[in-house]
Amino acid sequence: MSSISGPAINRRALLRAGACVAAVASLPRAAATAVGQIDLTAAPGRLSIVGKPHPATKVWCYGNRVPGPEFRVPQGQPVRIAVHNRLPEDTTVHWHGIRLPNAMDGVPGLTQAPIKPGVIFTYEFAPPDAGTFWYHPHADSLQQLGRGMAGALIVEEPEPVPVDRDVAWMLADWRMTGDAQIASGFGNAMEAGMAGRVGNTVTLNGIVSDEVPVRAGERIRLRLVNSALARIMALRFEGHRPVVVAIDGQPCDPHEPEGGRVLLGPAMRVDLCVDMSGDPGKRYRVIDDFYDGLSYWLTELAYDEGPPARPRPLEAPLTLPRNPLPEPDLASAERHELRLQGGMMGGGAMMGMGGMRGMGPMRGMGPMRGMGDAASWAINGVSITGDGHADMPPLLTLQRGQTCVLTMHNETAWWHPMHLHGHSFRVLRRNGSSVSHRQWADTVLLPPRQSVEVAFVADNPGDWMLHCHVTDHQVSGMMTVLRVA
Ligand code: C2O
Ligand code: CU
Repeated sequence: MSSISGPAINRRALLRAGACVAAVASLPRAAATAVGQIDLTAAPGRLSIVGKPHPATKVWCYGNRVPGPEFRVPQGQPVRIAVHNRLPEDTTVHWHGIRLPNAMDGVPGLTQAPIKPGVIFTYEFAPPDAGTFWYHPHADSLQQLGRGMAGALIVEEPEPVPVDRDVAWMLADWRMTGDAQIASGFGNAMEAGMAGRVGNTVTLNGIVSDEVPVRAGERIRLRLVNSALARIMALRFEGHRPVVVAIDGQPCDPHEPEGGRVLLGPAMRVDLCVDMSGDPGKRYRVIDDFYDGLSYWLTELAYDEGPPARPRPLEAPLTLPRNPLPEPDLASAERHELRLQGGMMGGGAMMGMGGMRGMGPMRGMGPMRGMGDAASWAINGVSITGDGHADMPPLLTLQRGQTCVLTMHNETAWWHPMHLHGHSFRVLRRNGSSVSHRQWADTVLLPPRQSVEVAFVADNPGDWMLHCHVTDHQVSGMMTVLRVA
């Protein structure tokens, strides 16, 4: 489907010594359904990521674990999360996908002052939507996210659909050296103009996973979160037929993914309902084959020997209750075009290239506003670089309550998961054809040279970022701001 240059992915590259890695259980739940004060410390740590006999990896993390603690909070109830910064540099936390007040959005300079080392900042909001969300830093994002800072934030429906187990898989991608340390070289300009920092080791809930134990006949709600800096994933579940029930936390009409592959760009989430229809004692691979010639298996579903949990699949419905999202009024909508520009040319043909073929002039690059980072990308001719800072001029100002239809045109040779803060949008059309299953999203993946049309009601006042979630692309210019007045 697409190609990348750089080191070939081999999830076992660091495991050749015949090491045996512990099975993944579901994450320990830190603050399950606890409302009230949650404490979250951001600090350096040392954790076993690749598994024995490899040494522990020096990471930066939340709550001394990778991924950070999985928070499960009830829909609509206030949450307070006190973030202690014990990193050697400034940080902030962005609650990705939650429609919250602007001052709680975690964008340094734009919505809050960065949290200095040694300082505590308390975030407070009442998540209006149930679903699968996540949190990550919005300061020095390349390093902070790339060194392990990310966690799941699950907002629970008052009445969830009946399943046997509800499990989150935080997927992360690391560029590891031979001694299981995080490779340096964040912010490489050449990579920034291509696919971004794609790593060589993919983890599931913080470890390289050999297996996930399951039981025949059970139904699992699987909440997938792609927390990678740059890696796009396309997951296939051998021998199974997962059903997509929500995208970016927002329920959709239940459907099987196209071609049986679940496509997940960075920051995207998909909730699946999976009936464990395999045979007791057998193993089935979960394969990611997004990049041509670089497919690998993420884990194996390892069936217990025991008899099926039930004689036939559960018949309970899969439709989740919809969230209280304002429905766009297309008749009165304001329409705007966003052109995504820049990058190196010939994105599909970089594989195995040692040189710079395809390096073209960056088209349409206009004024650059940033913090001294090099610009490789632009939106409508303007490059805003970095992670967020003061004086980012809004590209558009929308009146509160106005419906906005945005058509994003990807004029580049690369994929871009485009994320809007503070809102969820309806995904209306791709390349002019309507999108089925009533999909909403906060991060929409644009293939090279394609377009997507989304609509949302600008009901949340403030300055909101809109950027590509391939972190190298964001920090090197594919970022802008929408103001809701
Ligand atoms: Cu996860 Cu500015 O985003
Ligand atoms: Cu991008």
